[in-house]
Amino acid sequence: MFPAPIQTMPTPEDPFAPLRESLAVSPTNVPLRLHLADSLLAAGRGDDAESTLKDGLTRTPDPRLKLALARTYLKQGKYSAGIVICEKLAQGDNPAPALVLLARLLLRSGEADRAAEAYRKGVIADPSVADEELAGQLDAETNLDAGNDEDEPIDDRTPFSGRVREGPMEMPDDPAEIEQPQITFADVGGMEPVKEEIRLKIIYPLTHADLYKAYGKPIGGGLLLYGPPGCGKTFLARATAGEVSAAFVAVGLHDILNMWFGNTEKNLHKVFDQARRNRPSVLFFDEVDAIAASRADFKQSTVRPVINQFLAELDGMQTSNEGVLVMAATNAPWHMDTAFRRPGRFDRVVFVPPPDSAARALILKLHCAGKPLSNVDYSAIAQATAEFSGADLKAVVDRAIEAKLQEAVKTGIPKPLTTKDLLTAATQQKPSTREWFADARNYALYANDGGQYDDLAKYLKLR
Ligand SMILES: Nc1ncnc2c1ncn2[C@@H]1O[C@H](COP(=O)(O)OP(=O)(O)O)[C@@H](O)[C@H]1O
Ligand SMILES: [Mg+2]
Repeated sequence: MFPAPIQTMPTPEDPFAPLRESLAVSPTNVPLRLHLADSLLAAGRGDDAESTLKDGLTRTPDPRLKLALARTYLKQGKYSAGIVICEKLAQGDNPAPALVLLARLLLRSGEADRAAEAYRKGVIADPSVADEELAGQLDAETNLDAGNDEDEPIDDRTPFSGRVREGPMEMPDDPAEIEQPQITFADVGGMEPVKEEIRLKIIYPLTHADLYKAYGKPIGGGLLLYGPPGCGKTFLARATAGEVSAAFVAVGLHDILNMWFGNTEKNLHKVFDQARRNRPSVLFFDEVDAIAASRADFKQSTVRPVINQFLAELDGMQTSNEGVLVMAATNAPWHMDTAFRRPGRFDRVVFVPPPDSAARALILKLHCAGKPLSNVDYSAIAQATAEFSGADLKAVVDRAIEAKLQEAVKTGIPKPLTTKDLLTAATQQKPSTREWFADARNYALYANDGGQYDDLAKYLKLR
């Protein structure tokens, strides 16, 4: 027997209801949408997956959604629609996955030679996309004496957004991933004010507990990082664990979502318990808005018990759990229930801005470390990369290295990376933070009641 369903569960036959609800609250949350589409597809509900993705694309033209839609088309047998999408994506920033998917689509629609060509290009662009099974099929199809095995099913079990779980399930006692991060604050470029906030608000209370007690300063409570994507929130949380040599217990979006397919409250408790057993530890909830979304926004009440459990666990940390630092990150703090902000919960809210010019130079330097270089002028590149996120800068370095590699393969002469190479790569990379600020600006202007977005408002020069 399965455990009794939560009383208020409105449609027990639709296991996707909580996911749909969560998505209704954060409609621009791409990983969340991918996860829903992924799960729908795994459950054989291709049409549903298709409309979920199309709906997302009307909001954000994210290439991940496009790729997912093409994969859905593959499953549905709508090959030409999939091919059109993949051909476009193959001209974009991250061509490799699109090329491999294109190969599958072409193979299915009987164009084995073009498929092999696409596959080859994909693997050249990024060797990690290589797929032995697909390569074998392409080999057989392009081989003259290969028999006609048109009906041979092509295995595309690999889900496009990671793991797929089905049905109600019990989580193991150690549901979260545990890591001992090797990175520290020294590996995080710039961000001195943010690091200092983290030190004051959660590191010193741990390392100097007696002093805090002596001054009557309460210990406990968590820290919420928010800001545009790719600017180092997740990276900083890991570095915080490294900084205090603590275990890093990370709960990602997929873990949270998978919890919903089982006994969520119990699973949530297990995660907190795991952090307590591994202290000193940093318990980190990534993309926390998926679980901490405003209760008022949920019309159905399936999610409420989960949120209440989360709040109760946070309160428990305060009393019984010295040595556990709770951190969370979100791109959309405005979707979070205000109850999470109360004292002892995520009562410290820190804005993680895009790196300034000095930080950009540092980040570029960090990502160039260990590569063959010739006198790179990092500040010149930093000047040319205003509004770039840390992730964008990493992409610039990767892109420059790729170009260099291609050249070296052609000429047979490896040459070191120059300032010019990096500047060229920078012109080909679009800064990704703009879109976020367009949205965030409204919240800083119109939803800053408790002054919780003051940092952001200041950054945007709204005050
Ligand atoms: N300040 C920084 N210093 C060094 N690398 C950074 C920095 N900010 C971002 N990065 C790079 O960008 C990647 C994406 O950052 P991430 O922490 O995932 O962003 P977020 O969680 O805010 O979306 C990181 O893995 C790291 O390689
Ligand atoms: Mg992140």
